[in-house]
Amino acid sequence: GAPAEVDLSKLEPGQKIDVEWRGKPVWVVKRTPEMLANLAKNDGKLADPNSEANQQPDYCKNPTRSRKPDIWVAEGVCTHLGCSPTFRPELAPADLGADWLGGFYCPCHGSKFDLAGRVFSGVPAPTNLVVPPHKFFGDGDSMLL
Ligand code: FES
Repeated sequence: GAPAEVDLSKLEPGQKIDVEWRGKPVWVVKRTPEMLANLAKNDGKLADPNSEANQQPDYCKNPTRSRKPDIWVAEGVCTHLGCSPTFRPELAPADLGADWLGGFYCPCHGSKFDLAGRVFSGVPAPTNLVVPPHKFFGDGDSMLL
C-alpha cells in the first residue's frame, strides 16, 4: 500500500495520535522524560523485556523500542485476539495496580503493556505490541510509515 506521512510537529509530550496504515490503527506516542525513565522500572514484571520475540524492526530493538527515544510507534492491536488497547498514561486506575507506571490496557481480556508496548507477565497477550517499520524526515517533524 501507499506510505502514510504523519505530521509530528504538533505532538505534545505525553500525547498519542492515531493514524491508519494498511487498514490498521497505528499509534504515535511522544513520551516525556519521566515516561522514559519509568520504562526500566517495569523490566522485572514483563514477559519479554528485551523484545527477543522480534516484534519490531532491528533499529527499534533497544530499551525504548524506538528510533528516537521519545517517539514510539506501534500497531494499536492487542497481540491476544486483536482488540485495541486503551492509552492509560496516568497513574493508577485501581484495576491496573498500585505500581502502574502508565501504558496500555486491553479492555477485552485485561492484557497490560507498558509505554514501550511490552507485555506484562500473567496476562493473555503472548507478545509485545508490534512496532511497524517507519522513518523520520524533515528534522524529525514528519514520519513515514
Ligand atoms: Fe486484548 Fe484479549 S484481545 S487481552
